[in-house]
Amino acid sequence: MNSRHVRILVINGPNLNLLGTRQPEVYGTETLNDLERRLRERAAQLGCEIEMRQSNLEGEIIGWLHESVKTFDAVVMNPGAYAHYSYAIRDAITSARVRLFEVHISNVYAREEFRHRSVIAPVAAGIVVGMGTVGYELALEAAVRTARR
Ligand code: DQA
Repeated sequence: MNSRHVRILVINGPNLNLLGTRQPEVYGTETLNDLERRLRERAAQLGCEIEMRQSNLEGEIIGWLHESVKTFDAVVMNPGAYAHYSYAIRDAITSARVRLFEVHISNVYAREEFRHRSVIAPVAAGIVVGMGTVGYELALEAAVRTARR
C-alpha cells in the first residue's frame, strides 16, 4: 500500500439511526455511535480519513453522493431499504461516477423476498452482506486498498 491520503465517506440510510434498539436480533445491539467509534479506530489503522453521515431522506443522500466525488475517494454505504427500490440513488452513483461499496448488516438473502434484490448492487464496486457491522470495516478496507491502487 502506498501512503497517499485517502478519504472515505460512510453513509447510512433510513432507519439506521435506530441501530442498537431496532430489531437487535437482526441488527445487533451496537449503536451508530459505537459503530462510528470502531470505524474511526479501523480508519486510523488503515491510515485513511473517514466522515460518517446518516439520513432518512433519499434526496439528501443523492446530494451527498453527487458532492462526494469532489472530496472523497470512495463511498461506503448501507442504503437500508433504498437498496431494494431506489433507482434515483442508483442513477446518482452512475451519474456522478461514485466508487461505492454497498454494505448490509443482515443477510438480506435469508430474509423476506423483497430484500433479495438490490438495485444498487449492479453499479457498486463491491458488496458486503450478512457480516454484521464488521461488514463496514471490510468495505472500508476494500475502499482504501482500491483507492491506493
Ligand atoms: C439493511 C437491510 C435492508 O433490507 C433494511 O431495509 C435495512 C438494513 C441491512 O443493513 O441489513 O434498513 O440494509
